[in-house]
Amino acid sequence: MKYDGWSIYEEPQIARIQAAADILSRLFGFLAPKVQPGIATAELDALAEGFIRAEGAEPAFKGYKPPFEDAEYPATLCISVDDEIVHGLPAPDKVLQAGQIVSIDCGVCLEGFHADMAYTFAVGEVSPPVQRLLWVTQEALRRGIAQAKAGAYIGDIGNAIYTFVKSYTFAVAEQLTGHGVGEAMHMPPDIPNIGRPGKGYRLPVGLVIAIEPMVHMGSGRIRKGEDGWVIRTRDGSLAAHFEHTVVVEAKAARPLTSFEPIRKALAHA
Ligand code: MF3
Ligand code: CO
Repeated sequence: MKYDGWSIYEEPQIARIQAAADILSRLFGFLAPKVQPGIATAELDALAEGFIRAEGAEPAFKGYKPPFEDAEYPATLCISVDDEIVHGLPAPDKVLQAGQIVSIDCGVCLEGFHADMAYTFAVGEVSPPVQRLLWVTQEALRRGIAQAKAGAYIGDIGNAIYTFVKSYTFAVAEQLTGHGVGEAMHMPPDIPNIGRPGKGYRLPVGLVIAIEPMVHMGSGRIRKGEDGWVIRTRDGSLAAHFEHTVVVEAKAARPLTSFEPIRKALAHA
């Protein structure tokens, strides 16, 4: 049965995922002004955990064992700097510096329902090509979401992301995918950032998915880092990562997470 175990929900459950997503979106608004030169990634992690617990929710990554790993992730955030793509482990001696790009990825669980979101921040000023990487990755996410309406194919999402990224001569990390999300952090189906139009399963109404393009300035190849968690670009090129949790509806996908609190916080900073 092709939808077996998929994250397909009705309105009452979607409202609960939305509640987790709201906490997550506000968390990013809270963190955004703090992503500055001089802050240690472990400080951001502690602030995030405090924020989530004060909302009566739980950090969903902490204690989570990803598929194909045998250890539990020990932190609230994944903070991936420069050539780190995902799963950067926060550390007290990892201090942000002007000119870096920093991807923050977080999952929140509220009463058994999860939401997942990521955003890449510039620390201070970054060069125009790096600004373009950030813009292209965020725009690729928007284009992927625009494809994710009921009756569309999973391949339509990946195709939109991949062709857009390629048109800017960047590369996607092809082995890393989005996923279903809801009662668990990672559920079927996988949502690749590459695909062919009209290929793969069709998207049913009520399917909740995390769409998350991971884009490199280099080859698109990846390697596991020294601590067993972090995944880097193989060639050391910079990488960006933007992610929303969305629900498939008849005419469009509706984002449950939002970058609006980040925009507001940075506009007033
Ligand atoms: N980066 C993953 C995602 O967004 C989740 C992190 S898994 C963890 O789907 F082990 F790092 F928590
Ligand atoms: Co995700």
